[in-house]
Amino acid sequence: MSVFVVVLDGPSAAGKSTTARAIAERLGLRYLDTGAFYRALALKVAQDGVRPDDADAVTEVAKRSAIDFSGSPSQAHVFLDGRDVSGEIRTPEVSEMASRVAAVPAVRRLMVEWQRAMAERGPLVGEGRDLGTIVFPDADVKIYLDADLETRAKRRCRELQARGIAVHLDDVREDLGRRDERDMNRPDSPLKAASDAIRVDSSGLDLEGQIAAVLEVVRRHPRCPASGAAG
Ligand code: DC
Repeated sequence: MSVFVVVLDGPSAAGKSTTARAIAERLGLRYLDTGAFYRALALKVAQDGVRPDDADAVTEVAKRSAIDFSGSPSQAHVFLDGRDVSGEIRTPEVSEMASRVAAVPAVRRLMVEWQRAMAERGPLVGEGRDLGTIVFPDADVKIYLDADLETRAKRRCRELQARGIAVHLDDVREDLGRRDERDMNRPDSPLKAASDAIRVDSSGLDLEGQIAAVLEVVRRHPRCPASGAAG
């Protein structure tokens, strides 16, 4: 029988990462951050001086990249060619570049293959944009986590400021809007809710409320592991 797979898709800064990590911790599942694949590639594309709209060159970079993960959901580390890039891939510049390289179809095909291979390591909670539609169309639980743009911009702003990155709310809102637009309108695997996804809007919820709402949906599934079910 296939492994138990939960997927969370949705726009940037909707709270997917925090929620997916918490669900993984509480249910004893692995955590798969698919955005980190595109971010790690974006970092290498930038460092190699490749133009993100040069699809062939970006695909070449992807083919000679090794992206891997280690650690627990709350302490997840991302490795690019054996180097820990967990911090470096979280800058606004890499976010923008990631959204661009993610629009290249050949890159997506490679990434989807690598992401599916992660499910061979055991049951997981994955987060991204196309997990319910493309990567894991047979996932046991599909959630589309959304929040309005203002809420997401404020959250992302606080998150970046807490990490010492100086940003203004107006710029963050504009960046998010532009990335959403690109992620939702690209021809290949655009961000959208799978027809069988359950929608959760986190705009009016605090972090615990958001985690509780998603956890409730996941726990309803008959194959949901009961272990680690505290909290
Ligand atoms: O979730 P994130 O912000 O780390 O994702 C970075 C970029 O990667 C985002 O702009 C969209 C893209 N992405 C994607 O196209 N498909 C995924 N499954 C995950 C991320």
